Amino acid sequence: MTKAVRVHQVGGPEALIYEAVDVPAPGPGEVHIRQHAVGLNFIDVYFRNGLYKAPGLPFVIGNEAAGEVVAVGPGVTNFHPGDRVAYYYTLGAYASERNIPAERLVKLPDHITYEQGAVLMLKGLTVWYLLHKTFKVEPHHRVLIHAAAGGIGLLACQWARAMGAHVIGTVGSKEKAELALANGCDHVILYNDEDFVARVKQISRNELCDVVYDGVGKSTFPGSLSCLKPRGLFVSFGNASGPVPPFAIAELNNHGSLFATRPKLNDYIANRSELLEGADTLFAAVINGTIHVPINHAYALKDAAKAHIDLESRATTGASILKP
Ligand SMILES: NC(=O)c1ccc[n+]([C@@H]2O[C@H](COP(=O)([O-])OP(=O)(O)OC[C@H]3O[C@@H](n4cnc5c(N)ncnc54)[C@H](OP(=O)(O)O)[C@@H]3O)[C@@H](O)[C@H]2O)c1
Repeated sequence: MTKAVRVHQVGGPEALIYEAVDVPAPGPGEVHIRQHAVGLNFIDVYFRNGLYKAPGLPFVIGNEAAGEVVAVGPGVTNFHPGDRVAYYYTLGAYASERNIPAERLVKLPDHITYEQGAVLMLKGLTVWYLLHKTFKVEPHHRVLIHAAAGGIGLLACQWARAMGAHVIGTVGSKEKAELALANGCDHVILYNDEDFVARVKQISRNELCDVVYDGVGKSTFPGSLSCLKPRGLFVSFGNASGPVPPFAIAELNNHGSLFATRPKLNDYIANRSELLEGADTLFAAVINGTIHVPINHAYALKDAAKAHIDLESRATTGASILKP
């Protein structure tokens, strides 16, 4: 028996039930891991409240973690007991032990801790593909990153700045503004108090942005479109305030022949070589100091409900982990 956080019925944070679950011996192609740290993500909230559908009930919630290999199933040759590993995988992460397909694991380099590994595989890989694949950020670009002091936000601002871009961030409080400025933002906008479109126009002297990275969704739409220069790219990658409402494609024309995309990590690490390319690039960026990993909150796994309350009430900054 191991301990895990399961959802029996979708709902509020009270839907997170910490309980004993059985983990069978690993099947063909699977690895059994003992987890040392689990990443907390806004996506976990969407699965808990039903915005994103789990395949069935009950389900173990959570999407990224790091730990050590305890046993391997038939046919697994590239992982061995004692290996330090991390993963992004849809559901099953809020647990002290679990089985997972070996093809979804990556080995952690010596210089990456379990805690860092646990928050890099979803948040860090997302920032990797957003900045390197969805839109290739270059030194002459001006980028707008919403929720700049969040888990994705602080990593994205640091990396975009390191790539030479001019970075504008939006945040919900003065404390978060200081953090965002210390993590790569050239300018920060308090979007609860200020008209962020007007501020982007002012900061950019009406030249606007090449790309907007928007994980906030409903409350920053359609303002985000107005922050883009003609032929700019709207990257809608999340719904922290609720989903972007349906809109007429003519809006992209009205705002200057814009492009728009709604990407997800799974499509950018669809095969093992893409996963390893992303993880290698990401780990190298951490090891060579291009980005540091701000882990600002830690909770016991059994306190996952408290972690969700804090995340949803905008009380967290940077990344948070759960300790099994
Ligand atoms: N598509 C993908 O591949 C992918 C992968 C990973 C994550 N994501 C998305 O990326 C976004 C950030 O994820 P994260 O885990 O790093 O979370 P996070 O940014 O640490 O937390 C969400 C932040 O959103 C802001 N926010 C704005 N309106 C909000 C509202 N009504 N309720 C709650 N928060 C609100 C808050 O910052 P302020 O107080 O500063 O406003 C809050 O701290 C999420 O939308 C997530 O779904 C997408």
